[in-house]
Amino acid sequence: MALNALPDQAEKRAAVQTMFDRIAPRYDRLNRLISAGLDQSWRRTALDAIGVGTGDRVIDLACGTGDLAEQSALRGASVLGVDFAFEMLRGAQRRGIRANLLQADGAALPFLDASASVLTCGFALRNFVALDEIFAESARVLEPGGRIALIEVDRPRNRLFAAGHSFYFDRVVPVIGGLLSDRTAYAYLPQSTVYLPVEAELLGMLEAAGFEQVEKRGFLFGAAQLITGVRSKIR
Ligand SMILES: C[S@@+](CC[C@H](N)C(=O)[O-])C[C@H]1O[C@@H](n2cnc3c(N)ncnc32)[C@H](O)[C@@H]1O
Repeated sequence: MALNALPDQAEKRAAVQTMFDRIAPRYDRLNRLISAGLDQSWRRTALDAIGVGTGDRVIDLACGTGDLAEQSALRGASVLGVDFAFEMLRGAQRRGIRANLLQADGAALPFLDASASVLTCGFALRNFVALDEIFAESARVLEPGGRIALIEVDRPRNRLFAAGHSFYFDRVVPVIGGLLSDRTAYAYLPQSTVYLPVEAELLGMLEAAGFEQVEKRGFLFGAAQLITGVRSKIR
């Protein structure tokens, strides 16, 4: 994948997988630095919003090195982290994340229908090839009444914040990423927000997949977003 170039849909899956395998060793440190530690509080808010706790069977989709999976486990839930990048999973294992880990593609989850009560996904929507397939699989593996929480970066709407955010996200982040990890990857990450559908379309896709009570809220003046919903009881 060339710098300042997004892979086309055909090559995106392999490009994303290779990229995350490459940046896995420094992924957590960079996350904390780039978000000034806010990413962890956004994860906590997401789990509060859908009430994750003891007795829940959680699938953390695209779990990476396990930040969200670990927070669910600390709340007493039984957690299975799924990711297609082996090195990210290895990072989670090295950290001793209290979750089972499985290498699989989010578009074809190797789980029975209605086998989970919660599905979480942190900062991965823009990396998927086909969101409708991901949402359909998420709905399939969730029991009726099961909850979903999706965290993703966003672009602030306020012009002032948007300008500051764009400077930081599009210019500063690739430099920090280049110095401490991999410039190509940290140039891709801000650019990849173009893969995200606009709000109405994104929420509509979740409803079409079988979710209700679908809601979006923003973090940090719209720099990140949390989408929650409930698996419809009618299949
Ligand atoms: C930005 S990281 C987020 C990791 C973690 N959820 C977090 O909150 O830090 C995105 C993750 O999505 C994973 N991913 C992207 N596409 C995937 C797919 N189709 N199936 C499974 N994992 C995928 C990548 O391997 C990567 O670990």
